[in-house]
Amino acid sequence: MKGRLDRILSACGLLTRTEAQAALKAGRVTVNGLPARDGSLKTDSDENAILLDGRRIGGDGFVYLMVYKPAGVLSATEDRHGEQTAVDLLPDAYRRRPLGVVGRLDKDAEGLLLITDNGALNHRLTSPRHHADKTYLVRLDLPADERDEAAFACPMDLGDFVTQPAGLERQGDGRECVVTLREGKFHQIKRMFAHQGKTVVFLKRLTIGTLRLDDSLSPGGWRALKKSEIELLLQET
Ligand code: URA
Repeated sequence: MKGRLDRILSACGLLTRTEAQAALKAGRVTVNGLPARDGSLKTDSDENAILLDGRRIGGDGFVYLMVYKPAGVLSATEDRHGEQTAVDLLPDAYRRRPLGVVGRLDKDAEGLLLITDNGALNHRLTSPRHHADKTYLVRLDLPADERDEAAFACPMDLGDFVTQPAGLERQGDGRECVVTLREGKFHQIKRMFAHQGKTVVFLKRLTIGTLRLDDSLSPGGWRALKKSEIELLLQET
């Protein structure tokens, strides 16, 4: 729904217009994680996360965020050794919720993280049974070739596990590739290339299922998912 924030709040059926004004004044409302006190703010509840007491208005009550994880930041939600985590990149309004990261990314990797408190969706997206493809931009020390492409397409025995077939699409001279995985074992892409005698020097996740990293985000940036993105993710799992 599009329009003034106070109208959107009262149209959700939980609050009267007067109660909506009081909730705004009391700082109980945030838009994309930032406190909003001005009822005349023009917004769109499909595009922006409007939260009343931490619950999303116009959605299913869960929080869904995409974060562009920079290299050097942990993809966990908390770290006991005081290292920076992806949740540290979010405003406090989100940090009070029991958020989970969908699928881990190595500390030195960057790119798309999906952060949500919808535990059932998190479970479905990471379960190998549901086959949500994940794609990664990879740069290598040596060009990938047809043998690597063929090896990725077949089960690869990495000692402690055998991979499911993966996609390898070479770009330019083969030093840059897009890899598609249906699973996400620890260090999987690095280990698959190491098996082929190559070293990954840069790794960036581009997609998780139907969700694509927004080109307009820079490393460290984040945004709430649009309603259409949430619906697609829920449909595909
Ligand atoms: N493969 C890796 O090697 N690392 C990641 O973070 C994800 C996939």
